[in-house]
Amino acid sequence: MKLRAIAMFVLAIGISSAAQAAGEIIIKFSHVVAPDTPKGQAAERFKQVAEKLTKGKVKVEVYPNSQLYKDREEIEALQSGAVQMLAPSLSKFGPMGAPEFQLFDLPYLFPNQETLHRVMDGDVGKKLFAKLDTKGVTGLTFWDNGFKQMSSNKPMHAAADLKGLKMRIQSSKVLNAQMKALGANPQVMAFSEVYTALQQGVVDGTENPVSNFYTQKMHEVQKHMTISNHGYLGYAVIVNKNFWDGLPADVRTSLTQAMKEATAFERDVAQKDNDDALAQVIAAKSTTVYTLTAAERADWQKVLLPIQKDFESVIGADLILSANATAAQVAKEQADAASKPAASKPAASKTAAPAKK
Ligand code: LMR
Repeated sequence: MKLRAIAMFVLAIGISSAAQAAGEIIIKFSHVVAPDTPKGQAAERFKQVAEKLTKGKVKVEVYPNSQLYKDREEIEALQSGAVQMLAPSLSKFGPMGAPEFQLFDLPYLFPNQETLHRVMDGDVGKKLFAKLDTKGVTGLTFWDNGFKQMSSNKPMHAAADLKGLKMRIQSSKVLNAQMKALGANPQVMAFSEVYTALQQGVVDGTENPVSNFYTQKMHEVQKHMTISNHGYLGYAVIVNKNFWDGLPADVRTSLTQAMKEATAFERDVAQKDNDDALAQVIAAKSTTVYTLTAAERADWQKVLLPIQKDFESVIGADLILSANATAAQVAKEQADAASKPAASKPAASKTAAPAKK
């Protein structure tokens, strides 16, 4: 594994030096997940569109699966300029000195993707990206993965079923509090180490959207998965600030456009990737998949919702309030739309349109 990483690194330097000699701008985009995940596919889409729109002035090199760096190192590599672009999960910004990003880790705060997108694309997202400015990092956009599910080697129906389990988490204080509230023993670990840790029993279980679970083959080493949708995992696409600010304006405009297209693509495929991955896990039969009943979900919520209050001072009460208000607004709009008579629903707009002439 180490040798492969060194070989990749040497190869990366070799490719980059050749391209640099040809006068190209190189963007090394490092990430930790498989190429066939929402993030992996979107990184490739960004590469294609960016290289096309900049007419070959920019070359994007995508390094998936922690080939270049693991979780913590990749952020250091971005800040030092060893790589130019990353898309770490929002749970990994705390150690960088931006604990407000842990908003997205709060259990059961976001009921649906519509709420998430409004929060990310609105004032809250802007506020969060402003926090990165002083850290030598520029935030470009937010990408989805999806809602997280719990896995371990024992069935997890009641919240109390997690008592005593060693659970791998990302480096987030909110996730630490979440596992502790469930009575589990949280262990921070880099994503690239999770499969082996599960296999060897260093940890008993973990949480992730199913696309990550399946593409890392965790179904081979976890007997049970509970569809709990207890929290969300998404990404911020970030660049080295000096690199970004130093780009010729026309190149930056093209890259911004490429990122817009990659983001639309990413948000489009994320849910489908997770649905497909769940079907594959079920088909593989090595993991029993259980969905919480409404009563069990209420039990988990009772245990986990108080974390929102506990983290007000760390994340900012205003950000939590804003996310809750957005969720309520989306719920109201959805209820209004559902209660409208069929004739005024969008599907009926074909009949309504001629009247406008
Ligand atoms: C994890 O570490 O579990 C995830 O953040 C991996 C990822 O980037 O989706």
